[in-house]
Amino acid sequence: MMRVIVALLVAVGAVLLVQVPSGYAWPESCGTNKTHNFSFGRKSFYDKLYYTVQEVKTRSFLRKLSYDITVPPKGTPLKGVISYIEIYDQYTDGNGACAYLNGGGVGNTNVTLHIKSQRNQGVNFIINVYGH
Ligand SMILES: *[C@@H]1O[C@H](CO)[C@@H](O)[C@H](O)[C@H]1NC(C)=O
Ligand SMILES: *[C@@H]1O[C@H](CO)[C@@H](O)[C@H](O)[C@H]1NC(C)=O
Ligand SMILES: *[C@@H]1O[C@H](CO)[C@@H](O)[C@H](O)[C@H]1NC(C)=O
Repeated sequence: MMRVIVALLVAVGAVLLVQVPSGYAWPESCGTNKTHNFSFGRKSFYDKLYYTVQEVKTRSFLRKLSYDITVPPKGTPLKGVISYIEIYDQYTDGNGACAYLNGGGVGNTNVTLHIKSQRNQGVNFIINVYGH
């Protein structure tokens, strides 16, 4: 009987382990690459750089940072509809944060990204937003 229960617990644990990392993650952001670069949409010849933002947060001891940023920030004059977004992770050692789309984006006038750092690590992204 004990053995059955242990086997069940192991099975449940395995299912949880398999399921947790999927779901909300970008397909390619926090994968095996050392930098978590990512882009949305396709850059065309006519696209102009609308906004460029460097998002930097220093590391926080034993903490994971988790917050949203919107580009452009509220109150900034809007330049138009977004057609392409690129995000460059300035960390090259795999310790950089991950960014997830959390609102707006291509086809909208702003984009909200949810940023999550790794425990004990900071954030350093360059976000370029294009449109035409
Ligand atoms: C790694 O980066 C390359 C080049 O930017 C990209 O094509 C590839 O999809 C990335 N792979 C993962 C797992 O993030
Ligand atoms: C982003 O755009 C949406 C839709 O236009 C708007 O409701 C929202 O307030 C904007 N967010 C910011 C932070 O400007
Ligand atoms: C990510 O972007 C940075 C900055 O442009 C670049 O140095 C790096 O090679 C890129 N990494 C990948 C995996 O594409």
